[in-house]
Amino acid sequence: MEDLYAPLLELAQRRKSCRHFSAEPVSDELVGQILAVASRAPFASGRNNWKIAAVRDPQVIATLSAQVRDSAAAICAQLDAGIEPFFRRYAESFTFFEGAPVLLIPYCRETSTMKSMLRDNVTPEILAWEHDNLTKSLSCAGMMILLAAESLGLGACYMTGPLLAGTALNATLGLRDNFLLGAVIPVGYPAK
Ligand SMILES: Cc1cc2nc3c(=O)[nH]c(=O)nc-3n(C[C@H](O)[C@H](O)[C@H](O)COP(=O)(O)O)c2cc1C
Repeated sequence: MEDLYAPLLELAQRRKSCRHFSAEPVSDELVGQILAVASRAPFASGRNNWKIAAVRDPQVIATLSAQVRDSAAAICAQLDAGIEPFFRRYAESFTFFEGAPVLLIPYCRETSTMKSMLRDNVTPEILAWEHDNLTKSLSCAGMMILLAAESLGLGACYMTGPLLAGTALNATLGLRDNFLLGAVIPVGYPAK
């Protein structure tokens, strides 16, 4: 049997988060190759109802970034003066995606099958379990995106900080509020 461990280990060892990108575009072919790998991700409960949005429009990317900044600023305004600077600095890491030529965003529709199936006693634990299954499935797809990008000489970063902006991002992406975003993953050639 072909030994794939060595190249996999090399890939895993090489991968690190990339937050600064060159202006060089990423071809549709490369994005397609990444999506082909991501499509093999495992998913919970036999429900591979997730998709991956590829966002290239600089204006859309700028809008998403502005929404994340606005949300972070709204949180800062609620924080005590002692901790506000720490959060503000932390939140600066939520908008690195704005310099990337393409964003890959795994998402799915938030559904509660258990709620519709159970007669009663729909506990918070059951709802959290079902919600977590969706986010974990999206994470699996995200990890596949990171490895596929690395294998193609591209940089990427798994980012959930931007999700702080909540459904404002959905609106910009043309998704209804009941869609769940797994992460915002900028992909591009690493800046020299
Ligand atoms: C769930 C999750 C959320 C993350 N969100 C962000 C983020 O919003 N911004 C960011 O710059 N990095 C984010 N990261 C990347 C981590 O900071 C990074 O993976 C970690 O520091 C380890 O570095 P490495 O990826 O280079 O090995 C996130 C990683 C994970 C797993």
